[in-house]
Amino acid sequence: MTPTLNTLNTSFAITNALHFAEAVPGLPVADIRTPLASASVALQGGHVLTWQPAGQSPVLWVSKAAVFAPGQPVRGGVPVCWPWFGAVPGKATHGFVRTRMWQVRGTELDATGQVVLRLGMSDDDATRALWDHAFDLELVVTVGSTLTLALTTRNTGSAPFTITQALHTYFCTGDIAQTAVQGLDGTSYLDKVQNFAVCQQTGDVTFSGETDRIYTDTEADSLILDGAGGRSIRISKQGSASTVVWNPWTEKEKTMADMAAGEHRQFLCVETCNAGPDAVAIAAGGAHTLVATISVA
Ligand code: BG6
Repeated sequence: MTPTLNTLNTSFAITNALHFAEAVPGLPVADIRTPLASASVALQGGHVLTWQPAGQSPVLWVSKAAVFAPGQPVRGGVPVCWPWFGAVPGKATHGFVRTRMWQVRGTELDATGQVVLRLGMSDDDATRALWDHAFDLELVVTVGSTLTLALTTRNTGSAPFTITQALHTYFCTGDIAQTAVQGLDGTSYLDKVQNFAVCQQTGDVTFSGETDRIYTDTEADSLILDGAGGRSIRISKQGSASTVVWNPWTEKEKTMADMAAGEHRQFLCVETCNAGPDAVAIAAGGAHTLVATISVA
């Protein structure tokens, strides 16, 4: 059951730093404002929607056509894809936690002025019907002049399980045609646009058509060079062996009801993942943490 705003604010609001409001009825959002940054995080999906460090324009992109409704994924921000990344026949793409309600487990203003929001969920009848494993999942979002997301999967059952996952981050960019991603030179990738052909990156990733790639076996930082916007965005990661780079370009964009015409020019996804061959096996009683840290220069 979704807690009321009153209950959330009584238990977890932080004066002058965090309070809960509703994006639309039934969809509570943690609204964070500090001298370091502003951000908003929807409890449905544990979905970071916005992050804007002081003195910067917004870093995360959300479509003008995004749908905010119970059970619907949001086009933009940082969808959490778990316990599978991508398409699985007969099941929802990118898993089920991006459309489920997460519980608030704690909020804190730390000694450096960052807000720390701890969200979680564990298995129940509905999750076991979709994926028959016992788990605890926790997402810790730290909002300051950097943004950190740490997603911990615990196997609370008595048998091992395997997951794929992504912090599927949508970044604003001034003009996709003047955007490059550094850090993947020499890395192999599965090209979804060419039926998962194995390819190798040479130089920076640049964009001139639909781009949908799973870079494998890489723990490198990615650096987005936003030429038109005149800034760069660094994504550092831990516990992640894959990086996905995605832009739908003109034709695929038209097939997405929750993306407005021409919007592919204004964003790219650089996703901190364990995908494809980089699936993670977690033993009974074991845990794994996936971390993405985003900073702007
Ligand atoms: C990317 C995938 O991560 O997410 C793409 O690599 C997919 O293939 C995209 O189209 C968006 O997925 P969805 O389910 O949010 O439309």
